[in-house]
Amino acid sequence: MENKLALGETLQQRGISRRSFLKFCTVTASMLALPQSAVPRIAEALQNTRRPSVIWLSFQECTGCSEALTRSHSPSIEGLIFDYVSLDYLELLQAAAGEDAEHARHLAMKENWGEYLLIVDGSIPLGEAGMYSTVAGVSNLKALEEAAEGAKAILPVGTCAAYGGLPLANPNPTDAVAVSDIITDKPIVNIPGCPPIPAAMTGVLVHFLTFHELPALDHLGRPLAFFGQNIHDRCYRRPFYERGQFADSFDDEGAKKGWCLYKLGCKGPTTYNACAVSKWNGGVSFPIQAGHGCIGCSEPNFWDAGGFYQALPQATFTSAGALGAAAAAGAAVGAGAAVLARGESKQTQETES
Ligand code: SF4
Ligand code: SF4
Ligand code: F3S
Repeated sequence: MENKLALGETLQQRGISRRSFLKFCTVTASMLALPQSAVPRIAEALQNTRRPSVIWLSFQECTGCSEALTRSHSPSIEGLIFDYVSLDYLELLQAAAGEDAEHARHLAMKENWGEYLLIVDGSIPLGEAGMYSTVAGVSNLKALEEAAEGAKAILPVGTCAAYGGLPLANPNPTDAVAVSDIITDKPIVNIPGCPPIPAAMTGVLVHFLTFHELPALDHLGRPLAFFGQNIHDRCYRRPFYERGQFADSFDDEGAKKGWCLYKLGCKGPTTYNACAVSKWNGGVSFPIQAGHGCIGCSEPNFWDAGGFYQALPQATFTSAGALGAAAAAGAAVGAGAAVLARGESKQTQETES
């Protein structure tokens, strides 16, 4: 819980070179869609900032969100914990257990009251007086309310914490809700995804440390830098969509050639996330690149929003998805949708292949 050193001093002590530090600042500025001129400001702010206290609470979750963070590429989890933030309480990684762990949480809250960031993964069950999920006998609801009171801002990470996610799926047996259903008087930045992209989480933290404010959000409380565009608009398979080249099954010739997965249920046109650009595991891949359509995991109610393998209804698609966005950008799109509407995709595939 040592917060006395400025980050620059901490980095120096740990032998991090100025060059590596500036590289991190440059990559982060680019992830946040900031101009290169913002790099010196990020560097100066991070250099001089004192490490903020971060408390991470896990509720009704599957550990996928915190697992995703431990797989983060840049900065690494070690860097995130030791160099950029002071992670005072995280059940998954902390050595303390039982009363010691609870003591650490309360101490961190007391010492940093009003200043710490609260990260939450998992939904909050309200059924059975909140006793479906407890830690040390304390219901998730009570733990959230307690920790939120002294928090400067709250980051619900993962779709469970941001929108209820999987636990909220019909019939929602535990009466699960999202963080923002409970806490309404604190700044909240939702970082959804099942799991969320680690770069989005670290990007928000860096923005907070640099500008002392939270980044611009969309209407669902997500940072625009990462959730401002849908998957479809940045998908490398988009040219196949435009040409009306669609895989009809996961093992047909179209699938082997990497054609568009729209007809196999891809929800990329109505899903807002940075996967197509940031990708996962240090930029290695993302679901569509692995051959499966996007299931819309960063959207509210994605689990109940129709079958994962059913093509998006054309009306929804054309009004809320790619065609609307692309038309706004002045792009001449729509050929794929038109082909689908006319039921001529097969013929087109044969002609163009
Ligand atoms: Fe697990 Fe997904 Fe919920 Fe995260 S959002 S806790 S990965 S089910
Ligand atoms: Fe990519 Fe899916 Fe859009 Fe096809 S429908 S271009 S696979 S996002
Ligand atoms: Fe989720 Fe779709 Fe990205 S399923 S991980 S938002 S490609």
